[in-house]
Order: sequence, then structure tokens, then C-alpha cells
Amino acid sequence: MLTLLFAAPALWEEFRTVLPQALAEAGIPARTLLTAPDPAAVDYIIYAPSAPLQDFRPFTRAKAVLGLWAGVERIVGNATLTQPLCRMVEDGLTEGMVEWVVGHVMRHHLGLDRYSHNPGHVWDQTCLPLARSRQVAMLGMGTLGTAAAMALRGLNFNVAGWSRSAKQVPGVPCLWGADGLAKVLGRADFVVTLLPKTPETENLLNARTLALVKPGAVILNPGRGALIDDAALLAALDAGHLGHATLDVFRVEPLPKDHPYWIHPKVTVTPHIAASSRPEGVVRVLVENIRRGEAGEPFLYLVDRGRGY
Ligand code: NDP
Ligand code: OXD
Repeated sequence: MLTLLFAAPALWEEFRTVLPQALAEAGIPARTLLTAPDPAAVDYIIYAPSAPLQDFRPFTRAKAVLGLWAGVERIVGNATLTQPLCRMVEDGLTEGMVEWVVGHVMRHHLGLDRYSHNPGHVWDQTCLPLARSRQVAMLGMGTLGTAAAMALRGLNFNVAGWSRSAKQVPGVPCLWGADGLAKVLGRADFVVTLLPKTPETENLLNARTLALVKPGAVILNPGRGALIDDAALLAALDAGHLGHATLDVFRVEPLPKDHPYWIHPKVTVTPHIAASSRPEGVVRVLVENIRRGEAGEPFLYLVDRGRGY
């Protein structure tokens, strides 16, 4: 009988039925605890960044920490964590992100705000641009960035990817490095940031790099707030260099009520809802990783602690 610690008490209501069910269906005998009176008896830790658990040293038997989030910046640097750390990759999360990115790109591409708020009842039949005339820069070509890039490509947008390593993605030319970044930013009508927060990506979009972006472009950030220097973004919007910013993630969440983003006419705030993990999908991944751990097979979605994601 395995002992699982569900170190995400706020989420327990959503998981209390589906997790034991999925474990039983997979034939894995396990009991799930919300607190561990004997940490040395815990086999797997299921973890959310909101959890109070920070000291992993007492969990001497734990074979892995299984994260419920895709982003791991709040745990990856934890020196007490010596067990393998897995992050969440799940179809619902990916589909949600694709829909958020496509939806918000389409809003700006088609200028939908003009029609949803038209107090002058203006009958303007100006021909709308086609996606084939638009360029998207996808910063981050991992699980989510690649899925979003391919969906936009499927709609005929010209999409260029940018990531740390070279990539081959059908129909999406991919670049890397500082030169690659300058190239993709300089052509982009839309810049989508789907990067993890690491020391290398922090403030990636700053006064210097935002100045490289094609004038009038729209920034969409569903990655992490720290990817953008907020003051530089506001300055670029105020100067008229950028057309709009649609932001889902922030350095401080919930975004403080008095933050300038809330009232800026060229900023749209969504409350970190671009993609959510659905318990049904998440438990499939958790159970599969526990099965792998027990079978001595490699874990799925293992975080590279050195890289930070
Ligand atoms: P992945 O780890 O699959 O992909 C990360 C991508 O970023 C990779 O292409 C990687 O390059 C690239 N990258 C990392 N560091 C650098 C760097 N220094 N320079 C250039 N490229 C870099 O992550 P996911 O696609 O699953 O998720 C991306 C992020 O989305 C998460 O880390 C999280 O912050 C955010 N997220 C937000 C959600 C929301 O609701 N708003 C929901 C889920 C995730 P390479 O391929 O070369 O390694
Ligand atoms: C995230 C997530 O990393 O919701 O933001 O999984």
C-alpha cells in the first residue's frame, strides 16, 4: 500500500473522488493523506505551489514530487528537494492555452473591440485583414508554445518560433539566441510569451527588446509576469509604440487592485486563467507517473533542475 501526500489542501475537494478512483482503476493500492504525521512513510508527494510545504528533507522515502502546475519556478530552486520533480503536462491544459492564445490573437487581428463597442453606430465596411498578412512571434516553443503556434499556423498566420534550442516544427520557422529574438520581434504583429520564469527569461521583454518589436504590435503574455519589465511595457504602450497588451500572469497575483494595468486603456487583464488543469486529466498523469515510479520506468515530464524548467 503506497502512501501519497496531497500537498495542495485547497484543491482536495476537486481531487478527493477522482484521484482514489483513478488509482483503483490502475490497480495501484494507495492511501492519500492531506498531512503526513510520518513524513518518512510517504512514497509520493503531489504538490501545488500554493502549498505550505517547503522542507522536503523529512520525506526520506519519497520517490518523486509530482507537481500540479506546468510552471515550477516556485519549487525548482528549493535546496531541500532532492527527489525527482515532475511538472504537469496535460491535454486540457494545452487545449485551454491554445484557445486562450487563438482567441486573444483573433480579437486583435479582427479588431473585434470596434464592433463590440460602437457608440457612434458607425457602419464601417473596411475589408478585414487576413491571417496570412500577419506575423506572430511565439517566444517559447515547448508543449504550450508549439501547440499554440501550430493552431495559429493552421489558421494561416505566419508564425515564427523562438526557444533556447533549435527546433523543427512543420510550417513554423524557429530561431534561437539574441539574434533570433531580434529577428522574430522585428517582424511580429503579435508577440506571445510562453516561456518559463527562470533567471535567463526574467525581464526578457524590457525597454531594449520592446523597442525591437514592430510598431503597433500586440503583446500577449500567458507565460509568467516576470518575463516582462512592467514599467517598460507601460512606457512602450504610452509612447504609442505598442498597440495593446493582453496579460494573464503577473509578478504579484492576484494583481493588486491599484495596479496601473487594471485601468490602462491598452491593457487587458485576465486573472491567470489562460489554461487550467482539469482534475480528470491531471490524475491520469499523476497515476501514470506513480505506475512508472513503481515499475522503475522513467518519469514523465521530469523537470531539469539545472535548466530551471
Ligand atoms: P515547456 O518547458 O514545455 O517549454 C518552455 C519553452 O521555453 C521551451 O521551448 C524552452 O526552450 C523555452 N525556453 C526556456 N528558457 C529559455 C530561454 N532562456 N531562452 C529561450 N527559450 C527558452 O513549458 P510549457 O510550454 O509547458 O509552459 C510554458 C510556461 O507557460 C510555463 O512555464 C508556465 O510559466 C506557463 N503556463 C501558464 C499557464 C497559465 O494559465 N497562464 C498555464 C500553464 C503554463 P527549449 O525548447 O529549447 O528548451
Ligand atoms: C501554471 C499552471 O503553471 O496553471 O500556470 O499550470
